[in-house]
Amino acid sequence: MSGKLYPVPAGEWRERAWLDAKAYDALYKRSISDPQGFWGEIGRRLDWIKPYTRVKNTSFVPGDVSIKWYEDGTLNVAANCIDRHLATRGDQVAIIWEGDDPTQEEQITYRQLHERVCKFANVLKAHGVKKGDRVTIYLPMIPEAAYAMLACARIGAIHSVVFGGFSPEALAGRIEDAQSKFIITADEGVRGGKFIPLKKNTDDALAKAGKGDETVLVVRRTGRPVPWTAGRDLWAHEETARVSADCPLAEINAEDALFILYTSGSTGKPKGVLHTSGGYLTYAALTHQYVFDYHDGDIYWCTADVGWVTGHSYIVYGPLANGATTLMFEGVPNYPTMSRFWNVVDKWKVNIFYTAPTAIRALMGAGDDFVKSSDRSSLRLLGSVGEPINPEAWEWYHNVVGEGRSPIVDTWWQTETGGILISPLPGATALKPGSATLPFFGVQPELVDDKGTVQSGAATGNLVILDSWPGQARTIYGDHERFVQTYFATYPGTYFTGDGCRRDEDGYYWITGRVDDVINVSGHRLGTAEVESALVSHPKVAEAAVVGYPHNLKGQGIYCYVTLNAGEAWSPEMVKELTAHVRKEIGPIASPDLIQFAPGLPKTRSGKIMRRILRKIAEDEYSNLGDISTLADPAVVQDLIDNRQNRR
Ligand code: PRX
Repeated sequence: MSGKLYPVPAGEWRERAWLDAKAYDALYKRSISDPQGFWGEIGRRLDWIKPYTRVKNTSFVPGDVSIKWYEDGTLNVAANCIDRHLATRGDQVAIIWEGDDPTQEEQITYRQLHERVCKFANVLKAHGVKKGDRVTIYLPMIPEAAYAMLACARIGAIHSVVFGGFSPEALAGRIEDAQSKFIITADEGVRGGKFIPLKKNTDDALAKAGKGDETVLVVRRTGRPVPWTAGRDLWAHEETARVSADCPLAEINAEDALFILYTSGSTGKPKGVLHTSGGYLTYAALTHQYVFDYHDGDIYWCTADVGWVTGHSYIVYGPLANGATTLMFEGVPNYPTMSRFWNVVDKWKVNIFYTAPTAIRALMGAGDDFVKSSDRSSLRLLGSVGEPINPEAWEWYHNVVGEGRSPIVDTWWQTETGGILISPLPGATALKPGSATLPFFGVQPELVDDKGTVQSGAATGNLVILDSWPGQARTIYGDHERFVQTYFATYPGTYFTGDGCRRDEDGYYWITGRVDDVINVSGHRLGTAEVESALVSHPKVAEAAVVGYPHNLKGQGIYCYVTLNAGEAWSPEMVKELTAHVRKEIGPIASPDLIQFAPGLPKTRSGKIMRRILRKIAEDEYSNLGDISTLADPAVVQDLIDNRQNRR
């Protein structure tokens, strides 16, 4: 790990920043010693219909896990993101849309956004969508994704955005779990010049999960022919032409649901993490302002997809609540060339740029010329999210992309946290490459060992959070017990993040990665159990075990051990067949990197797979496997070692 320290830039930069180190310290202390007072004041940055009188009412106590913020207040999230800006910035651009094809673009002002969201909301209403109903959104990165989300918020419907890269099977599972009857999709998506058959995928998903009473609203993106089910499918452009642009706001309780977002856990199917309205928006807006040091007039670009929480909090809700100009990019970093990101930065004069380490590493690998051919003088701040950033990539991002001028905010957070929990504040925090540095306001990180004993001072351990913050998820949709068991039972009285972490002598936090059976592939979270269940659903597979291993570009790669049914022969074709099968079951993001044929898996006598051993072999670190004497059949280990796929 790099021991380098990068101080806050001096001069104009520091003067402009919202907070310096002293202000951070004072506010942080207050946020911990007086959360009611602190968040009571912060919550007033939103417009409330009925102001709250109660601020924080939360408990992590086993048997009584309950999280409520601003619980007696009412508001409308869409009004906070749009209507309240109309008087002062109606003609300001709210969303800059940059198409996959560099010649396609659109700028949407707050006034236009208001009109389009109202129309979308009226379409939902006209087709019977009511407060509390779940609406599944399966769209590419086009402005309609934001219109659809905000339209749900306007009428109090709960959106469940499903990433456009997920397969029909994965979409079906999410539609089924959310019991959603209204699906918004597009004819096709476009990424890197390739078409993605979203409408067809939706049809396939509904053939699997549908009850026959669904409505499908289809946005026309490419205009190429798509299958059509009369009576069920509606064109968005026809429907919006029919409705008024006047849509009264619904009055929503702070604790009413805003959205569900599915994410992978260590066991079972992806879970529907549920976020509510008042606390979530307060936290997304506050973190967006301070972590990105956002000021009026800045052009802000987060490269995530709205299908992930980063897109929810930091493309749509946080920036729009702050009246920002947020850039939405349909494409990919390497199309038409490896300079695309920097060309977009120059074209729109982007000031704040937020991306993922996997993209940074891929661009770094392509060489500096693709960066240096651009100007990038508009950039003032760089951000990173999704996985630990290795110091080498950090230095490259800082020195080559940012030419040493722009601080990097390495933001640690999760789908469940709603917003950033550990991150530098650019005017306040000296940076260390690879460290997410210090907690945001109200966040109390702690490290515990496997028995739950608190580790003080410089230490390593499992990262837990001691008390609630307003952006925290409230439950898992339809399964509160699973919420309690997953996050609050391991180290009772605390929120367990699932991450391992080190705290150094300066109190800086260094996230080391997941300590559970979740792997992080190019910043995408996948449960090993999900990939295993996709593999065993193949008719020739008897058993499978999946682990992560270090991967130069992706952070972690997917390593699969597969045992075939008796009588089935292993062949190179099997590898292709299984890869295609997993892609079909989950999506391309779950493509196995390495598949090894395993005549048997290392199991204890009680039948438990010893993943520790499988992880070591996958990492090519098999010399020190520890005690294998408890295995039912120790001989299988040697075969796995002999045929390992990740030889260095
Ligand atoms: O392991 C951590 C990693 O991503 C996980 C959360 O994934 P997800 O819910 O998909 O949300 C990703 C975007 C917020 C975490 O448990 N992670 C996220 N950000 C960082 C990180 N690991 C290290 N450093 C980060 N900055």
